[in-house]
Formats: sequence, C-alpha cells, structure tokens
Amino acid sequence: MKRMLALLLALMMCFSLAACGGGGDAPTADNGGSDAQAPADGGGDAAPADGETYNIGVAIYKFDDNFMTLYRQDIQAYFDAENEKAGYEKYKVTLVDSNNDMATQTNQIQTFITQKMDAIICNLVQTSSSEQIVNLCVEADIPLVLINREPPGDEKDADGNIIDETAKVILDNPKVCYVGADARQSGTYQGEIIASLPDKGDRNGDGVVSYVMIIGDPENSDAQYRTEFSIKALKDAGIECEELVAQVGNWDTAQGQTIAANALTQFGDKIDVIFCNNDGMALGAYASITAAGRTVGEDIYLVGVDALEECVEMVNNGTMTGTVKNDDVGQANKACEVTIELLEGKDIQNYYWVDYAKVVKE
Ligand code: GAL
Repeated sequence: MKRMLALLLALMMCFSLAACGGGGDAPTADNGGSDAQAPADGGGDAAPADGETYNIGVAIYKFDDNFMTLYRQDIQAYFDAENEKAGYEKYKVTLVDSNNDMATQTNQIQTFITQKMDAIICNLVQTSSSEQIVNLCVEADIPLVLINREPPGDEKDADGNIIDETAKVILDNPKVCYVGADARQSGTYQGEIIASLPDKGDRNGDGVVSYVMIIGDPENSDAQYRTEFSIKALKDAGIECEELVAQVGNWDTAQGQTIAANALTQFGDKIDVIFCNNDGMALGAYASITAAGRTVGEDIYLVGVDALEECVEMVNNGTMTGTVKNDDVGQANKACEVTIELLEGKDIQNYYWVDYAKVVKE
C-alpha cells in the first residue's frame, strides 16, 4: 500500500513538473552561436496562473553592427521593463543573429513560425526579400513588424496607386508594418551641416566641394537616400560639387578606413569632405584622416549618421564635423509598442516614422 502511494506521488510530481516545463512549441534560440538572449525554457516559472506569456521572435540582420547592437539592446530593455511592470515574464524575447545572410534569416523566420511565435520583429538582411518574408508571416497569421531596413517604396503612380508589390503587401495587411526613419532626412541633414559651414564645405577654396562618399550597402535605401540627399542638399544650396570617390563600405569601420585611406592617397588635398553613410564608417575614415596627417575642421570635413556616443563626443571636441542622430531608442520603443498593440489585437498603421536630428558642435 505504502509503495502504491509513493508511486502515485511520484507520478503526480512528474505531471506537475511537465506542466511547469512549458509547452512543446516553446521557442528556443536559433542564433548560430551568437549572444542571443534566449528564454531558458518555455515555462515562465514566475507567471501567475492567469498571466499570459507572449513569445516574440526578433531577427537582426547582423549582430556585429554598431547601430543595430544598440537597437537590439533597446528592444530587449523595453520588454524587460514591461515584464518588470507585469511582475512576471509576460514577453519572452528570442533574439537571433541572421549573420548578414538572407537564407539564414529566411530559415530563422520559418523556425519562428514553426515555433508558433506570437509576433515577429524582423530587421531584413535584404529588402528585396521583404515580400517573401511578409508572405510567410501573413500565411501563418503571425503579426510582423519590419524594422530599420525599409522595404521597397510605397511610391504612388499618377493615379495614386501604390507601385511596389511589397508596399502593397504591407499596406494590404493589418498585421504587418514598418517602423523606421526616413533616410532622405538624414542625407539632407548631412548636406545641410556642410552647407552651413562658413566656407560651405569648400575647405581648399577652389570653388568646388570635392567629396568622397562612403556608402553603407548597395541595396539598402538608407544608403541610397543618404548618398543622394546629402549631395542634393548641397546642390540645392547652390554649391558646386564634385564626386571623387563613391564606394561601398558595408557600414563597417575597417572598410570605411580602407576606402578613406585609398582616397586620401589618390586625391590628397583635393578632398574637402568625407561623407559617410554611418558613424561606424566615419570612425574608420577618421583613423585614415589622422594617419594621412590631415586635421578635421582645419583641412578636411567629416560627417556621419547615427550619433554613436563616441561620435557625439568627437563632434563636440571638433574631430568630426557633424553627425545625424538615428534614434535607436525611439525606433525600438515604437517597434515594441506596436508589437504589443498587435498582440492585443489593436488596429495599427502600416508605417511609423521616427525623426532624425542634426548633431553639430554646441
Ligand atoms: C542604418 C544605420 C547603420 C546600419 C544600418 C543597418 O540605419 O545608420 O549604421 O546600422 O542601418 O541596416
């Protein structure tokens, strides 16, 4: 009899442990060995019986990116704060590193779908794949918040119809949206920072602003717009410009350094301004500028985008001419807010825009 009771007790314990251990569809990290913050288990031990836990899959194009590192930390911090407020793990975030590879990212999104995530936040590796990713999530009926890399445009034709298929997919779907910043604005601000200098950027006084353009990546609208609109702002201010070099540095400090070094060797004092599509590459360019014996503010200008902490310091001490604040916190907060609205079944907009801001020496 005693033995029977012991057996029964043991069986009961097994059952309750299994219940605590979480459902079979609990997400696990698929992060390719990165430092993703995966949930320890699917159980949410601290969750009160009535507290629901939402699983949110977040795919970041590449963890090893200055700006997106801040952004993903902001996302995690937002949900951590919400969990703190709720008093239990209300939002379980699984962050994965897509390692700058679209095939990897597509697999990760498919895994999120198999794991029955309640919502997905995706920083696309390639915006040309946005339609495919949107369709996967729409078919699985999982809300999708795209961030940072704007899917191909929502431009309209003469009759006001959206031209681009991806934009149509986004706009047609009440559970898909894009949260970002309008890169045209950041480019314009870079150009305006240069145009408002006493010599309007013509550092060597030869009547033309000769520049080097260090480009983010080829298919990213942030890169395209920053490249285009920075120079447009100069031209709109009536300034004559000449492009000496325009090269892709993939948002990367080391590549920015090499491109700037080569340009300085080839063109020397002819270079008035080095425009960088982001601060990461501007940091690299700065290293080459000093290595070439040049001095920012004295014989050359340097601008970036993002307003990384160290670059804001450089702007304030004059070693960078200016940068443009890319509001990682504002964008991450908006992306998280709208994710929660989607989880609560609320109506959302399809596009959310967060402003950039100029950063120049105070
Ligand atoms: C930009 C940012 C870059 C890089 C890029 C990645 O908005 O300025 O530094 O993070 O996004 O898509």
